[in-house]
Amino acid sequence: MGSCWEVNRLRIVGALMLSGALMLGACTDGEQQTPRMVSTPAVESQPDAETRKSWGGAEIYDEVCDKCHKMGVDGAPELGDVEAWRPRVQQGQEVLFDHVLDGFKKMPARGECEFCSDEQLRAAMEFMISRSRD
Ligand code: HEC
Repeated sequence: MGSCWEVNRLRIVGALMLSGALMLGACTDGEQQTPRMVSTPAVESQPDAETRKSWGGAEIYDEVCDKCHKMGVDGAPELGDVEAWRPRVQQGQEVLFDHVLDGFKKMPARGECEFCSDEQLRAAMEFMISRSRD
């Protein structure tokens, strides 16, 4: 308790009393040991739009498709799982690409990617297929 008061007193002084009441409120809600602000390290900051536009299939796969297709979320065929991909690839790439654009069962339309162009989605699909056959 004592240290909490110390910290708050310092903050109150620093904030010229303005936010003192808020700080005290925060201190009594039982969560004072938990740091609330987790700053994102620079390496994980979002790539800007220009960077994304330049991405090819592998980058789109990594950024967008990987979160489901790496671990097989919801039955997604996994990258590199030749058996899982074979019957799908046999449908023909145009059918597969329609399923990428429009969605298919639990595969969300466009992999839920808001910034991906059609070309990028196709490249990501081709990347996955190329890594998933013998
Ligand atoms: C939110 C999870 C999720 C994301 C993100 C996702 N997929 Fe899928 N995808 C699935 C699931 C689940 C299936 C299996 C659907 C089924 O057949 O039941 C699937 C199936 C597919 C298929 C096979 C469709 C067919 O006709 O058999 C292709 C191709 C595909 N995804 C491409 C992509 C591409 C390219 C991306 C990235 C742009 C992507 N997916 C992102 C979940 C996802």
